[in-house]
Amino acid sequence: MQSDEQIQFNKDVNDQVSKQYDQLHGEIFNAIEQERLKKTLRTAIKAAKTDAKPPKALDYGSGSGNLTRHLIELGLETLSADISEGFLALIQRNFSQTGLSKVLKINGKDLSNVPSNEFDLVATYSVLHHVPDYLSIVKEMARVVKPGGVMYIDHEVIESYYQRPKEYVEFLQKARPAVNFKRYLRLLLDVKGYIHIVRRLMNPRYKREGDIHVWPDDHIEWDRIEQLLTSEGFEIILKEDYLLYKNEYDLNIYNEYKNKCADERVLIARKQG
Ligand SMILES: C[S@@+](CC[C@H](N)C(=O)[O-])C[C@H]1O[C@@H](n2cnc3c(N)ncnc32)[C@H](O)[C@@H]1O
Repeated sequence: MQSDEQIQFNKDVNDQVSKQYDQLHGEIFNAIEQERLKKTLRTAIKAAKTDAKPPKALDYGSGSGNLTRHLIELGLETLSADISEGFLALIQRNFSQTGLSKVLKINGKDLSNVPSNEFDLVATYSVLHHVPDYLSIVKEMARVVKPGGVMYIDHEVIESYYQRPKEYVEFLQKARPAVNFKRYLRLLLDVKGYIHIVRRLMNPRYKREGDIHVWPDDHIEWDRIEQLLTSEGFEIILKEDYLLYKNEYDLNIYNEYKNKCADERVLIARKQG
């Protein structure tokens, strides 16, 4: 697929799933992940050396408002940007009454309608692997961060997710239910799912929700993101690898392994003031 087609596909699928998105994504909307996210966002906001009141944030690829909700609760005026009008309508419905929420429809390729040096915090969560040219989007996000402002990139897998070290394999074997009846039943009853199986047979890299860079030979390369940010004048403030909690996991097993292996990273970087 060409990149314009990939972006259009992403827009269409996200418009379709927007209303069920939160129920479909138990790996995001669970208490453990939400607590981690809130705590790390606080660290990012504290790291900013800007003095706007209220500070301004951009939530890039906002979806239904996972980051937007936290940013508004933390008092930031938040611009939620997405290619999907379905998601932006949800954000307007759920957050406009706070007086801190604005939305922006973007083209998925750049931030050409956003001035440089505009935001105290630019944040993105689980988005870059959907973007055809993700490094140029990171560069665009870097452009719109104010001097002294902060970039926050979260929920992208790390190399060990593909390399599968012994502890991680052991964790997955123990933490996931041996037979997941709920999942099988959901798959069986999901009539639209059959269409996706056929599409996958025709194109082995077809992904239902438009994931692009999620393969051993084509995935997010964190070291390239870091190099880019450094060359754009950013200083790395926090680089933390963590084991994402998914609500299908056994909590005791998760607690046993969360400090032994990791599969995701969050990065916080500050633009030179
Ligand atoms: C996995 S969802 C993550 C949503 C949200 N950030 C969250 O934390 O739940 C991916 C989001 O990226 C958006 N998206 C997909 N392709 C994009 C692109 N090229 N540029 C910007 N956003 C894109 C989708 O519409 C969707 O909202």
